Amino acid sequence: MTDLEAIEKRVSRRTYLGEPIGEEDAAVFEEMIARFNEESGLQIQLVRDGSKAFEGFRRCYGMFSNVRSYFAMVGKYADLYLNEKIGYYGEKLVLEATKRGLGTCWVGGTFDRKACPCQVKSGWELPCVITVGAVSEDWALKERVLYKLIHRPVKRPEQILSGDAEAPDWVREALPAVCLAPSSLSRHPVTLRWQGGKLSAAVPTYADHQSIDLGIAKLHFALASQMPGTWSWGNGSAYRTGLDARPEDAAAERGRTTMRELRLSELQPAARLMEETFADSVISDFSPEGAASFRAYIAQESLQRMVKERQLDLWGCFEGNRLVGVLGFCAPDRVALLFVRKQFQHQGIGTQLVGQAQQLSVDGGLTVHAAPSAVGAYRQWGFAPQGEEQETDGIRYLPMARLSQNGSPAEDTQETSAPEDQKPQKEALPSQTEENSGQL
Ligand SMILES: Cc1cc2nc3c(=O)[nH]c(=O)nc-3n(C[C@H](O)[C@H](O)[C@H](O)COP(=O)(O)O)c2cc1C
Repeated sequence: MTDLEAIEKRVSRRTYLGEPIGEEDAAVFEEMIARFNEESGLQIQLVRDGSKAFEGFRRCYGMFSNVRSYFAMVGKYADLYLNEKIGYYGEKLVLEATKRGLGTCWVGGTFDRKACPCQVKSGWELPCVITVGAVSEDWALKERVLYKLIHRPVKRPEQILSGDAEAPDWVREALPAVCLAPSSLSRHPVTLRWQGGKLSAAVPTYADHQSIDLGIAKLHFALASQMPGTWSWGNGSAYRTGLDARPEDAAAERGRTTMRELRLSELQPAARLMEETFADSVISDFSPEGAASFRAYIAQESLQRMVKERQLDLWGCFEGNRLVGVLGFCAPDRVALLFVRKQFQHQGIGTQLVGQAQQLSVDGGLTVHAAPSAVGAYRQWGFAPQGEEQETDGIRYLPMARLSQNGSPAEDTQETSAPEDQKPQKEALPSQTEENSGQL
């Protein structure tokens, strides 16, 4: 299920089957939470068995039944953007839960904070929780009645957008997803404004739950828009479309990246970049078994061992001090890993990494086991399929090779025109190294 499909499918569920969420779901959520907490400064916690927090609120708004698990959305009181961040990162968890067939509901009021077994240290607070758990496909009568009472019709796209000129397609096309964002009391308070060629998002009052609503709506927009970008935090703040929106800046910026072999001390950020990009965009190519094998391969300890034993050369592309792309190369000529941080894709970094691989190869030719979602981009870089798609240990890949005649690292290709879903963030592992043979 794509993000957009999850946005369309999601609906608040208040009657659960009463089971705590399973081990596999919990492991995925814990990994996401660790990443989000590090990125945002939040202290989100997964409470797998916390039914007591819902036992005293049966007669109020919500009327939840059989809640066992929830995300406790904890953060620092002093964080000016706490609620907005909670909305943004919490909705990522909601959409992942939806993809995994679980029901969810944001809950800002109708639960007992004191009975919630999460850690809320001094200076932290718990503005809301998000219930998560198995639900029945068929709605119970009580849940249906409640839903009708609580749920108000969503707004139409034209009701949430204003501005001084007609907004471009990448804004208008994402509006339905913003309209589908859940909001406290079903108020749908978020509006977007296109002014002076810039997009901003706001709520009438940046207090209480409206700022959570704002964070949720911002995430829906970012996921639905064809224009990659980043929201600044705050009421009325802008959607920064970065280099992709301004090709001339992108061209200038490309000249400022540097490529060098990674030091052992840099393997941790490299592993993190690959893990994040993998989780964001490539994981759908893998079975759970394949995802686990691949994660083990790119774990820091595994990278460290392979680099020390000279089984793998790891190169990084840096913008300033920031690592934005990683290449894993196996002698004599194999591209083993190729990841570009999401917001730096379409800027020629993949092309530079392939060019680096070509310099490392003996005769300028390269081979790769391309993940299905990366095949299009490798074609653009001059690689051609060598046989049929294969699958090993849950990893699907197409063997491809680039038989360079002129020594040029695919300069004939137009990387910026490659669709986002064809960018090669990952390829299956090389087969001839001792490290992988018979394993992946
Ligand atoms: C910040 C926030 C707080 C919410 N608090 C509650 C709550 O306390 N109790 C409840 O039953 N639903 C709560 N909801 C769920 C909303 O009522 C629900 O999202 C809204 O009615 C839209 O319905 P939908 O989620 O099915 O699209 C909350 C939603 C948000 C975003």
